[in-house]
Amino acid sequence: MFKVNDNYQKLPGSYLFSTIARKVSEYQAAHPDKTLIRLGIGDVTQPLAPAIIEALHSAVDEMGNAATFRGYAPDLGYEFLRNAIAENDYKARGCDIGADEIFVSDGAKSDSGNIQEIFSVDNRIAVCDPVYPVYVDSNVMAGRTGTYDPVSEVWSDVIYMPCTKENGFVPEFPKETPDMIYLCLPNNPTGTTLTKAQLQEWVDYANRVGAVIIYDGAYEAYISEDDVAHTIYECEGARTCAIELKSFSKNAGFTGVRLGYTVVPKELKCGDVSLHAMWARRHGTKFNGAPYIVQRAGEAVYSETGKAQLKQQIAYYMKNASAIRNGLTETGFEVFGGVNAPYIWLKTPGQMTSWEFFDYLLDAAHVVGTPGSGFGPSGEGYFRLTAFGTCENTLAALERIRQL
Ligand code: MLT
Repeated sequence: MFKVNDNYQKLPGSYLFSTIARKVSEYQAAHPDKTLIRLGIGDVTQPLAPAIIEALHSAVDEMGNAATFRGYAPDLGYEFLRNAIAENDYKARGCDIGADEIFVSDGAKSDSGNIQEIFSVDNRIAVCDPVYPVYVDSNVMAGRTGTYDPVSEVWSDVIYMPCTKENGFVPEFPKETPDMIYLCLPNNPTGTTLTKAQLQEWVDYANRVGAVIIYDGAYEAYISEDDVAHTIYECEGARTCAIELKSFSKNAGFTGVRLGYTVVPKELKCGDVSLHAMWARRHGTKFNGAPYIVQRAGEAVYSETGKAQLKQQIAYYMKNASAIRNGLTETGFEVFGGVNAPYIWLKTPGQMTSWEFFDYLLDAAHVVGTPGSGFGPSGEGYFRLTAFGTCENTLAALERIRQL
């Protein structure tokens, strides 16, 4: 008789955003007359920028012509895209990352779930709490965690680094030494971040204790403050301890197009073993590349026209973020984030739990948000709203919340 991967049986319920989607569709089916405003999952609403559409059209035409048709993409991704990334995301910021250290993929969610595969199952992981649930869930699936306690909402064998109002959402160095440290900055869900100096301390710590940092920079395009690093490689020593994951979903609206990349510097080693070589082996074996037309669209993100159009798109979402921040503060909520990220993190009113507030907001205001406890135990009593809605819906949602 075959056996299944028992680690999956340890996972409670479904993935956070699947649970929310199910609850919302059940509510909508029971109340077909209610118009819901969805500020839950961080999915974009603005159409792709014209420069990207143009690149997609022209790549589609190339695929219809025998002379320009392309089949499988090169293992690491097309050079035109890797060169554009190396030039714009790294060299322009004074960071020494070569195009051959960049692995193009179909998105940062897959990479953040898959990257753990090149590490031993014995490694201890440390995660910020609260944080994007994929890091813990994918490590549970791999068998790197113990069991889940539904009361405390804590996994055994996971080092939680609380990021709370009390510590200004800056994680403290854990008492037990981790092997793998996940940092998502600017942070999903709190919308807060670290200064470059604070990030440097994490790089120094990782190098000192021999840990690797898995750095998720999906929200980098939303950074507005000068003392915040745009990539971990701005920090001295990051080439020997950090892997960086980047997404095109939030900076360019590719949530439905799918494109991302991972940087594994050649100096990153475990003894003599190169992580770059391991990830290249994994990539070559299990992945056949992001589509050519999508990689051409990614290249357009770095064209001068593309950059200008996307700057406007980010400004549009950040205008929503300030509207939510200011609107909720005026209504009496305690809010965080929304300055360097498109997420606003609010304290639930009274003593409501995160899920109680989710149900209340859905039922009374027909607004969908994300319960903070879904991101980790320290998220209990908090709630996340996204700034990725349309401007009209964002203002309408605020008005509904004001009238509660
Ligand atoms: C979120 O809402 O946290 C994200 O959009 C989910 C994702 O990026 O996978």
